[in-house]
Amino acid sequence: MEDHAFRSLRELNGLSVDEAAELLDVHPKTVRRWEAGETAPRRAFVEVLTHRLETRKPPEPTHPAFTFIDLFAGIGGMRKGFEAAGGKCVFTSEWDEYAQRTYRANFPDDHEIAGDITQIDAADIPEHDVLVAGFPCQPFSIAGVSKLNALGRQHGFMNKTQGTLFFDVLRILKHHRPAAFLLENVKNLKSHNKGDTFRTICGALEDDLGYQISYRVIDAKGYVPQHRERIFIAGFREDTGFDFNRLEFRDPAKGPLLGDILHSPDETPEAHYSVQKKIGRLGPRTFVDGRYTLSDKLWNYLEAYAAKHKAAGNGFGFGLNTPKDKARTLSARYYKDGSEILIAQAGKNPRRLTPRECARLMGFDPDRETRITIPVSDTRAYKQFGNAVVVPVVAEVANYMKPHIMRILDPGELFEKSPAALRRRAQQLQLEVG
Ligand SMILES: C[S@@+](CC[C@H](N)C(=O)[O-])C[C@H]1O[C@@H](n2cnc3c(N)ncnc32)[C@H](O)[C@@H]1O
Repeated sequence: MEDHAFRSLRELNGLSVDEAAELLDVHPKTVRRWEAGETAPRRAFVEVLTHRLETRKPPEPTHPAFTFIDLFAGIGGMRKGFEAAGGKCVFTSEWDEYAQRTYRANFPDDHEIAGDITQIDAADIPEHDVLVAGFPCQPFSIAGVSKLNALGRQHGFMNKTQGTLFFDVLRILKHHRPAAFLLENVKNLKSHNKGDTFRTICGALEDDLGYQISYRVIDAKGYVPQHRERIFIAGFREDTGFDFNRLEFRDPAKGPLLGDILHSPDETPEAHYSVQKKIGRLGPRTFVDGRYTLSDKLWNYLEAYAAKHKAAGNGFGFGLNTPKDKARTLSARYYKDGSEILIAQAGKNPRRLTPRECARLMGFDPDRETRITIPVSDTRAYKQFGNAVVVPVVAEVANYMKPHIMRILDPGELFEKSPAALRRRAQQLQLEVG
């Protein structure tokens, strides 16, 4: 029996390691050794669990539907999307103190946030059904691989990633073997290092770890008024027929426009970002705080810079928008000059978006009056939103993944099946049954 087969059988039975050990009257360490492939379980033990599986009643639907861990969590964009699909977050890792501050403010009464993922032993991370991670993209060293080759050691793609943060994702997947994962990255991950980075990533996930993967570049334009393309890689421990290409996204042509997320005159003002003024008979109206209007110096500089590049036939310069537009991609460097998304103002220099508008542009605020807490400075907030995922896009992906996750987790559907189907399933898991 393959090392993971016993684990699958245990999980299909809905048992923790300790519960399986108690049922079989062995030490939990013995179960762990079977699952690590260090020793093989006796046939009788496999039969006990197989019989239990065949005769067990379908479990009651439970809440939450599945558990997940949030790696490279930032301010929790992936988490919000997976919570919307019914998941429960059981572990978070994020090392930036300011991102942690925003995360904590929005997920109070929660588990502790773990720091540097490279320092965390996979065994200290709780069991989970899904791993989500928007990991930073780093080149993989070819030199490291040649050295391994020279040493005559067997190496997979995984070895090639050593010393990168993707390696940490792999070692956690390898240890816990969750039912599924979702990884997110910039679109050019595919072309990075002449395609070598992406080939290595897919090779490690598919060939080394045995996951079924499917990926797709998704533009958030149908969900938020922003052109933002990101690559999403979904993986499943078993073949559930998941195909990213069958997911239909909202039509970008019908998607929201900037006017839908800009501060409006009739919304409740928010200290620091907007102010209320009485306008004659119109009464109190809300306006964006003057601190977001570009100074003459910065605006003149941006205009001169754009003109220079236009004359040289390259570059777009700044992006000047009206409420009828969709914005360019919000980047983590927006705090510098805000040049990629400026809002035109009548009779004044353009302004930047406020952090609140950035929260809406990334889909963090479901509506104008439901707001995430932003407990950090504008500079930190711009960086955090520029690094984040678009929440409704992740929610769409998570909801699309959910039935596939549940198919792996919930043995319920097996109970509908004939003994022959069950036997086929056992064979698929390479279990020895009579
Ligand atoms: C691209 S951002 C992910 C943002 C997230 N998806 C969101 O919606 O907010 C990557 C995050 O990884 C964090 N990070 C980078 N290296 C890390 C490490 N070694 N341990 C923990 N977090 C790390 C960064 O601080 C950053 O917040």
